[in-house]
Amino acid sequence: MSSTESQPQDQIGDNNNATAASKEAQLLAACHEGNSRQVQDLVEQGAEIFVTDETGRTALHFAAASGDVDTVRLVLQSGIPWTCLDVGDYTAGDYAEAGEHDEVYEELVQAGVRAEMVLRVFSGDVGNGKAANEDYLTQPVVYSGDRLIDAEKNGVMMSWEAPLMELHAQVICRKPGSVVLNVGFGMGIIDSALQELQPGRHVIVEAHPDVYQHMKDEGWDTKPNVHILFGRWQDKLAEIRALGPYDGIFFDTFGEFYKDLDDFHKAIFATEAGSSGQSVQPILKQPGGIYSFFNGLGGDHKLFHDVYCRIVRADLLALGIQTQYSQVSSDVVFDKELWKGIKRPYWMIKTYNLPTCTWTTKE
Ligand SMILES: C[S@@+](CC[C@H](N)C(=O)[O-])C[C@H]1O[C@@H](n2cnc3c(N)ncnc32)[C@H](O)[C@@H]1O
Repeated sequence: MSSTESQPQDQIGDNNNATAASKEAQLLAACHEGNSRQVQDLVEQGAEIFVTDETGRTALHFAAASGDVDTVRLVLQSGIPWTCLDVGDYTAGDYAEAGEHDEVYEELVQAGVRAEMVLRVFSGDVGNGKAANEDYLTQPVVYSGDRLIDAEKNGVMMSWEAPLMELHAQVICRKPGSVVLNVGFGMGIIDSALQELQPGRHVIVEAHPDVYQHMKDEGWDTKPNVHILFGRWQDKLAEIRALGPYDGIFFDTFGEFYKDLDDFHKAIFATEAGSSGQSVQPILKQPGGIYSFFNGLGGDHKLFHDVYCRIVRADLLALGIQTQYSQVSSDVVFDKELWKGIKRPYWMIKTYNLPTCTWTTKE
């Protein structure tokens, strides 16, 4: 269970050793007080900024807790990364939130967005998850009660997500007879919800052989309005296109990274064919199509998640797509029993940002 459940701010001051005489201790104390001028002076006098107290709190954690935006900016400019975690697994954002310092939280989110954008420019293959996905697809998966797990006990899908999947289904399938696409069957939760909404055509792309077998065992291959495309979505784009265009599309795979999600977006929203530049009907119907995806980006820390919500929204806008996030409570994940037997909890945030994505043009 992530420590983000309790209040990081409670700890501040309990074991604050910032009264010690060293420049570094003075620096942490000045950050704690939000005294940006003193922080600046100490840095100029050669105080080391990359220090922590005994609970792993950095100058950024202390600055965030102080609520002083200038101090936070100064510490970020001095090189402390926006992603730093203390030993309790808290981000600086958690400290800002606990103190209700909205301006500081926003500053941290903006720093995160800027840093991620820079990283992308200097490292073109950031987040290329191809190897991880191919590894996952060659290992067995097991359906076990409320979960689908892979060979390493990662939760591929868990039934606590059912209320979210039902909402996603309602977002992408607005009326009976709609043509819908779901990428990633998993436990079939969203597909069952979509069937209830009576789509005219329901295309499902699934790459894992065990999941595909499970789909057949459950009779999904004989449902009259269902088309299953067995294989990685990356290899099925021509067939996906041939069965479209779609009124609604949902994307939720496993073992993939941001780059894969971004590639999927580029594929389904493309209005021009490859290098020829010829205009084509996009895979998501234009106008009127609605897209959504499982928004687990950075799902173990709220600050990381908020940064990725901004990044994906900006990337989608560049493709002609506007994104609205509806906030849905996901408190259930704090039940200790829920993650028993799972290697790493993949969602640790109280609020789920459910994306509804639509065309900005030609609507
Ligand atoms: C998180 S589960 C989907 C859960 C689903 N939304 C539900 O409601 O049960 C992810 C699924 O995506 C499949 N998958 C992973 N990589 C894929 C890929 N590249 N193409 C198609 N399916 C993929 C996995 O095998 C798994 O069944």
